[in-house]
This record gives sequence, structure tokens and C-alpha cells, in this order.
Amino acid sequence: MGTTSSQDFSTLNQPNIINYHKVILFPLPFQGHMNSMLQLAQILHSQGFSVTVLHIRYNPPRPSDHPGFDFHPVDVPSPVAELEAVEGDTMALISLLNVTCVVPFRESLENLMGESSDGGDHVACLITDICWHFTQAIADEVGIPRMVLRTTSIGSISAFSAVSRLQKNGLLPLPESQIEEVIPEVAPLRWKDLPIVPTRNPKDFFRLLADIDRATKACAGLISNSFEELEEVKLAESRRSIPIPFFLIGPFHKRFPSSSTPVAGKLLQDQSCIAWLDKQSPKSTIYVSFGSIASIDERDFLEIVRGLANSGVPFLWVVRPGSVRGHEWLVTLPPGLLEGKGHIVKWAPQREVLAHPSVGAFWTHNGWNSTTEAICEGVPMLSSPMFGDQRVNARHVSDVWRVGIHLEGLLGRDEIANGIGRLMGDSSSSKEREEMMKRVMDLKMKVDGCLKPGGSSYKSLQKLTCYLFSSCQPEKL
Ligand code: UDX
Repeated sequence: MGTTSSQDFSTLNQPNIINYHKVILFPLPFQGHMNSMLQLAQILHSQGFSVTVLHIRYNPPRPSDHPGFDFHPVDVPSPVAELEAVEGDTMALISLLNVTCVVPFRESLENLMGESSDGGDHVACLITDICWHFTQAIADEVGIPRMVLRTTSIGSISAFSAVSRLQKNGLLPLPESQIEEVIPEVAPLRWKDLPIVPTRNPKDFFRLLADIDRATKACAGLISNSFEELEEVKLAESRRSIPIPFFLIGPFHKRFPSSSTPVAGKLLQDQSCIAWLDKQSPKSTIYVSFGSIASIDERDFLEIVRGLANSGVPFLWVVRPGSVRGHEWLVTLPPGLLEGKGHIVKWAPQREVLAHPSVGAFWTHNGWNSTTEAICEGVPMLSSPMFGDQRVNARHVSDVWRVGIHLEGLLGRDEIANGIGRLMGDSSSSKEREEMMKRVMDLKMKVDGCLKPGGSSYKSLQKLTCYLFSSCQPEKL
């Protein structure tokens, strides 16, 4: 292709050339998915597209935060109570929504297409979260191409496909005794790393994966919040098994200032932690956060407390209200256990924290955003994945990119203190840290390069822009 976006825009408003100016986006109503889709909206807007966001009324976006976009609610007939009944069982909720949204979504899409043929912008494409599999059939009926957004790693795409295959071959669930073994076809993933999400009806989960797989293979392309240099091998593998165009244009967040990182619900970023970090020595502190969804029980909380205290390393710890099951916020601790050893907040300005000179390591659940944010700041990780793709990301951190240490198994105070010591480069592991730091700094440089003119994500976005302006004509690739 080899053209630049500015050359592509030169055909705008020329007679007899149809330019497809509008994209219709349909995010999944969960914070991580919604944030990524809205970041994609912003990226496409900056490339000259007008953006319409279709959304359901469950966890809706705030239109006032995005005055440049049009927002249209899709009126799902299910009462909110029905949706809330499956809340907490994400897979059941996604399966339910893929059924209840069919009729209202078709109606909304047809209305928007009608507006477009009445003189509005031509619709280039429908871009939905990969999990909205039902939308492929509707896009086909209505006659517009559909692309999907994968908000997490390319590695997790092949891991989810592996789950489907293994289940079809009768190999799941695997006996507890074998979960530490590596699965040869997706090495270095072990059985325990498979992105299986606990749900009340596992059969529905496997059906959902199969439906997503089928609809993805039929779509016009996949947009990913990853970058090629990070996932070359997985990208080649996924391209072979899903023969559609792939556009890796991430990491999305690097295209925006850190102050624009979204907040979790009503939680405000507690800036006191930056003043606290200012008082710590360079690279002396570990930042601890398990993201916006994961919760732990009281036992885990107490093991974390003891592990942090015993490590002797200063810590900044995010504990979201309600994230310790059965407690409003913190569990009451014996006096003196943590005093003077660290700082606890309800929500932190994470990107600023990771970029702070006092932060030497990140103990994380390896949600995709946290993982890429750490890589972008050159911070090595201690991994405690909780569920789903986090397990795949964590294994890549420790065994593929080798920029962190995996805390295998149940959280235990001794393992935690040892892991933190190794990661921070205590006397017996300073070489290990040095090598990890070299590798993570190398990845950081690759990220910086991929977004610059000529870099992989930069070029991929140019290709995507051309492809969309042609309404997904394969010859434009
Ligand atoms: C969810 C899923 O659990 C995960 O598997 C998937 O990869 C992404 O969506 P989530 O808990 O939202 O994960 O984690 P993550 O993707 O890491 O996103 C958390 C975001 O919240 C990050 O952008 C992070 O910077 C931000 N954050 C987190 C803060 O701004 N402050 C905090 O205190 C904690």
C-alpha cells in the first residue's frame, strides 16, 4: 500500500469517489472493554472518521466525556434485574446479551444506515468488540462490513482457540494433578494458564467461545491493542488460523496523555500517592494493584500484608473498596504491622505511578492494560493472575518476554516476600534483576519505536485507515 494518511484524505470530496467517513462502534459494557473501544474511537476520529457509538444501557458510557462522538442507546428488552442476576458471572452475562440484543441492535443499525443513505456520512464499517458474535449475521444482512476489536493480547486469542479445541477433544477439565504440565501445542502455557473463566454453566462458556471464533473468522478484520514486535510468533500463528486482516495498532494508551486514563466507576485517583512516592529513593518501591475487577478473600489479603511487611520493601498498594470479599475496604490489622512501611490508596493514577522514578517493580494481576503500561515504562513485574487472559499474559511475562516473575500457586507470605526480593534485586538476585531490566528496557524502546513514523503500529494504523476509507476492500491492503 505504502501511502500516508494525508494522501488518502486527498480523495475526500472529489466527485465520483465514495468516501466512507463514518464508523459505527459497539463496545462490550465492561470497563476494560469500553475504555479500549473509546480509545479506538478517539484514534479513528483523529484519522478523519466520524464516530457513532451504539451502546446498551447497562454500564453505559458518559457521552459528556466524548463530545466529538454520537451516542445511540440500543434498547435491550431484558430488565436490568435480569442482567444483574448474572452480574458477577461475566460469561453468563455475555451469552445472555448476545441473545437479547439481536432485535434492538438490528433496528438501531438499520436506522443509522437509513440516515446515512439520506445524505449523512457513508458508513465505512461496523466495529464491535470481538465478544459480540451475533452482530456478524446482522452486518451481513444489512450489508456493511464488520471488524472486531480484541482488547487484549494476540496470545490470548490462540489460547482461547486452544481451549475450544481441547474441550472438543474431550481433554477438559484436566485432573488437578496435571495442571502444572506444559501444553505442547501452546507452550509455554501450562494447563493452569488456560483462559478458562469460572461460570455457572461451563457448556455455555464453550459454546460462546465457538460462536466468537466462527464470527471472527467471517469478519472483515481484527484490530488489536498490541504491537507486532511484542507478539510476532503469536501473530503469525493467529494469522494462519484466522485468515483475515490483522491490524496491531497498540498500545492505545501511549497515544494519549496519562491524565486521560479512565477512572473505575466513581473512584477518584488519589494523588497523595505521588507525594508519598516523591519521598522514596529511586527504584526502591513496589507498586501493587490487581486492576479494576479482581477481588480476593480475607486470607489472601492477610498473606499479602505479611508478605509485603516481611519483604522490607516500601510499597504503594491499591485496595479498591469492596475488593476484599466481605469487607467494605481494608481488613482490620494488628497495630504496627504496616505502619511506616508503605502507603495504601483506593485508586491510583497508575500510569503516573509506573513512570515515577521511585517505582522499581509492579506486582500485578496482568490485565492487558496493566501489562502494557508496565512494559511502556520499563517496569518489571511480579505476576498473580486471577482469571481469563491474565493467566496467558502472566506466562508471557515470565517465560516469553522474561520481564517478570510468576508467583505460582496460592498466595503465601514467604513466596511473596521471596518473589519481591528477587524482583527488586536483593543481594542474591541482583544479576537476575539486571537481566530482567535489560529485557524490559529493550521492549520499552520497541514500543517507543512502533508508534513513530515508519514503526509497525504507525504503519498498521495507516493501513487500517485506508482499508476503512474504502469500506474494507481487500485490494486496499
Ligand atoms: C480486565 C480483565 O480482567 C483483564 O483480564 C483484561 O485483560 C482487561 O480487562 P482490568 O482489571 O480492568 O482487567 O485490568 P487492566 O486491563 O490491567 O486495566 C486496569 C486499568 O485501570 C489500567 O489502565 C490501569 O492504569 C487503571 N488503573 C488501575 C488505575 O488507573 N488506577 C488503579 O489504581 C488501578
